Amino acid sequence: MKILAIETSCDETAAAVVEDGRIVHSNVVATQIEMHRRFGGVFPEVASRQHVLAIQPVITQALGEANVSVRSIDAIAVTHGPGLAGSLLVGVNVAKGLAFAADRPLMAVNHLEGHIYSNWLDAPERTQGQPVESFPVVVLIVSGGHTELIEMRGHGRYRRLGGTLDDAAGEAFDKVARLLGLGFPGGPAIQQTAVGGDPTAFDLPRALRHDPAHRFDFSFSGLKTAMLNLTRRLANQHEDLRNPRLLADLAASFQQAVADVLVEKTIIAAQVADARQVCICGGVSANRCLRTTAEDRLTALGVQLYIPPFVYCTDNAAMIGAAAYYNWLKQNSVGDGLMIDVHASLPLTEMIESLAA
Ligand code: KG4
Ligand code: ZN
Repeated sequence: MKILAIETSCDETAAAVVEDGRIVHSNVVATQIEMHRRFGGVFPEVASRQHVLAIQPVITQALGEANVSVRSIDAIAVTHGPGLAGSLLVGVNVAKGLAFAADRPLMAVNHLEGHIYSNWLDAPERTQGQPVESFPVVVLIVSGGHTELIEMRGHGRYRRLGGTLDDAAGEAFDKVARLLGLGFPGGPAIQQTAVGGDPTAFDLPRALRHDPAHRFDFSFSGLKTAMLNLTRRLANQHEDLRNPRLLADLAASFQQAVADVLVEKTIIAAQVADARQVCICGGVSANRCLRTTAEDRLTALGVQLYIPPFVYCTDNAAMIGAAAYYNWLKQNSVGDGLMIDVHASLPLTEMIESLAA
């Protein structure tokens, strides 16, 4: 089954052709990063306007690279939330138009579910294969807008274990990068700056580490404040905050603090859920420090770890095509119809619990 998938939830205009949820025939992403850099973050109106300009050429390129026409596609899938409403609207309306014109089923996909299924996509550079079809699998979603710990009990069956009480992990990266004057997007900038830095140089908080009421929850606002106080203290001590050595230590200590809590809580979740497999996904899963911390600690416990190749960590449409395929198998339906709408907020578990019931 070949699906044309479209993703416009934030600042990437993306389209992909995916077969049977795994085989990626094309995966085109037009990023708007340069456009938003001068604002220090994603500017919603600029994002939606840019999607309008990019969507048609991106879809044409995705179909061309896959060597297919819309009529030889079996279904069209589109992200309908969560995300920026104005951005989502562009993708959803284009998808509706294509589905109507080509008389193909239209499937609405939750962006977070897309991130989860990025772990099922075939990729030559993937060393450890895809998750085997044995559940439960514990999933950690770490993106710019979300940090969620989920027990996956089967395809499309999720139980939320916990999540962030304040900032998402990616948001923390972005805000701390701005604080350190490293620019946007913050994650890659911090990772780059941290090269050669000492992750133990500064003692930073690991929030909710020993809080039994929040075993599976995260909080990054205290870490952000600690970074602010630390930089102020260093400035008062006449340290040069542009010194690359100091910046490397600050960035390395920060990303290690984030990685430690993310991995520790994921391990506890895997133990409690008795899961032998863990998937980490979302933009922050591109972070090398998080990847190696997770790999070292989970492999030591005999837990199989899956993290997508870099190209599928940040927003893309291939992951939407994968999620759509597994939804299709589970629902055995004819799609969601042309009445689908966009949802700025769309919790994964609410949608799925009703399916699982
Ligand atoms: O999944 P994503 O592309 O978009 C959302 O759904 O939010 O994630 C974007 C987030 C941004 O906060 C960005 O700073 C972060 O992922 N990110 C990273 C890295 N690459 C992207 N964070 C840490 N290290 C990275 N290498
Ligand atoms: Zn995302």
